[in-house]
Amino acid sequence: MISLLVDQIKKFYLSHESLLQSLHPGLNLHTLTREIEWFDTLQSSKLNPKEIFDELLSGKPLAFILGHQFFYDSFFKVNDSTLIPRLETELIIERALELIKKNNLKEIADIGCGSGIIGLTLAKNADLNSVMLTDISKGAIELSKENAYLHQYQLPKTVKIDFHLGDRLDGITKQFDFIVSNPPYIKKQADQALVHPQVLSYEPSSALFLEDAEYNQWFKLFFEQVLKHLTPGGYFLMEGHEAHLDELAALMGSLTGFSDINIINDLTGRARFIESRKNG
Ligand SMILES: C[S@@+](CC[C@H](N)C(=O)[O-])C[C@H]1O[C@@H](n2cnc3c(N)ncnc32)[C@H](O)[C@@H]1O
Repeated sequence: MISLLVDQIKKFYLSHESLLQSLHPGLNLHTLTREIEWFDTLQSSKLNPKEIFDELLSGKPLAFILGHQFFYDSFFKVNDSTLIPRLETELIIERALELIKKNNLKEIADIGCGSGIIGLTLAKNADLNSVMLTDISKGAIELSKENAYLHQYQLPKTVKIDFHLGDRLDGITKQFDFIVSNPPYIKKQADQALVHPQVLSYEPSSALFLEDAEYNQWFKLFFEQVLKHLTPGGYFLMEGHEAHLDELAALMGSLTGFSDINIINDLTGRARFIESRKNG
């Protein structure tokens, strides 16, 4: 059965290779086969390859066709209410787990949780008391709840998972010793030309873009809220755009309260995250 499926995928891919490569950034035969095979196992062979192939040719992202995406150590449900989990966000998990373990961090917030991948992956892989998942999108909060349910047996019984619908940290009264975030960080006017057409067509603009004129003000308010909600000595870790992390680090440095502000590069040497602490 599996080898029949693999043969079908190979035949389909090779006969549409250049179209598929132009429609789907980063897709290759190996990835396509692996994702469909994994999904076939997850669904106990209920998938219809012909339907998948037709949707791929229409340009729809594979993750939205399958309704799932593998992230870090497991499958998460995805839909068009938020971003498809990205490979590079796995790096934020690795850094977050290091910080959590080294500093015995227990109370965590994931701001702009989307499908819940960051907060839920940390909850599964660290010894935490609580994780609060927040997003401005009702659809994203619903999706995070579905993913929490999907992963319920991998979540330690002792960790409390809360959900909050709102703008950044508005309406939250709790304090955290670690705030982590992958917020929208692409400048709508300056950066949009570099974004792949598939992303523009299928993923929600609110998950990706901020208006250029409002960019710094958006992050200033966010950083001020982060300071208000971190316990003294608490940690902040955020994914950002390589072209704008320097200005965001400077902005953070201009506020009273942050220390140890560092920009962290990814494995290709591109600036990818900002990490900082609230003064103790
Ligand atoms: C880049 S996506 C990240 C999603 C997820 N954390 C991930 O890493 O895949 C940004 C998320 O932030 C949410 N968002 C956008 N503006 C927001 C705001 N003002 N307050 C809270 N969340 C916001 C979007 O709805 C989206 O789910």
